[in-house]
Amino acid sequence: MSDNLFRFHDLFAQLGLPNSPEAIARFLNEHRPLPNDVLLADAPFWDASQADFIREKRLQDAPEWIQVIDQLSEALRETRDVVSSDRPCRVLALSGSLRQGSFNTALAHAAQAQAPQGMTVEVATLHGIPLYDGDLESSNGIPEAVLSLKAKILNADALLLVTPEYNNGVPGVFKNGIDWLSRTDRNAIFSGRLTGLVGASMGGFGTISSQAAWLPTLKMLGVSLYSGGSLMVSRAQNSFDAAGTLHDEHTLNLLSTYLQGFHRFVQASQPSRAHQTSA
Ligand SMILES: Cc1cc2nc3c(=O)[nH]c(=O)nc-3n(C[C@H](O)[C@H](O)[C@H](O)COP(=O)(O)O)c2cc1C
Repeated sequence: MSDNLFRFHDLFAQLGLPNSPEAIARFLNEHRPLPNDVLLADAPFWDASQADFIREKRLQDAPEWIQVIDQLSEALRETRDVVSSDRPCRVLALSGSLRQGSFNTALAHAAQAQAPQGMTVEVATLHGIPLYDGDLESSNGIPEAVLSLKAKILNADALLLVTPEYNNGVPGVFKNGIDWLSRTDRNAIFSGRLTGLVGASMGGFGTISSQAAWLPTLKMLGVSLYSGGSLMVSRAQNSFDAAGTLHDEHTLNLLSTYLQGFHRFVQASQPSRAHQTSA
């Protein structure tokens, strides 16, 4: 099982089925396990036109559909439920700023405090990670700080990147940390990793440019990015007090809404469990 329920969004629409993540999870839970000797198109739960659509696309080997049809077939063979609520979902909030008074680290802590029921948030930073240097990697291997961060990510169900913005782009410190991580079990760490992206800046646009600048990298790494909501905290200096506590009501509400959406996204996606068991 790979990726998440959002990949079935278009297929479910095409089949005339409700296609929210919750509806897809419900459908899978109701209809699995589909025995291995039953072809997907022959499954008893399709009506004639749905079965015809699947059969036809498979016969045509239609490139835009065949992969997702195979993935749906695979997902339906599984015996376990899509949504497991036996323990809270664990989110690792990774701040991309090193400074002690960082608004982004403060935002990560605010996410920890505001986490909805059923979600816990651990805050991590990039302290101790050296500048990437291929010679250092060759001679000393992956630095301890990178391995420690890797273990935290693998132990979490989801990753929340909390990014500053430098010169309309991604801060080098943050990109450097991600680059190091990509040098060690890149697929296990990133591929299909349920990921949220938020940020705080002192400017008026609240990391809009740096969040956009992250996209090619996150796409390259193959993360499963939450796009159902966004959080860009502008003029962060007005939202946090001197101790780093988020006091601005409006931002607190935005954060809370974002986290609730992110929680639903994680709940409706299965790879969190797969990553957790492979850690
Ligand atoms: C090198 C540098 C470039 C910056 N560029 C931007 C920028 O493009 N847009 C912006 O809103 N803020 C910019 N800032 C201000 C940051 O938003 C501010 O320093 C913020 O506090 C950084 O996040 P932190 O508090 O988590 O460290 C820049 C700051 C630095 C140090």
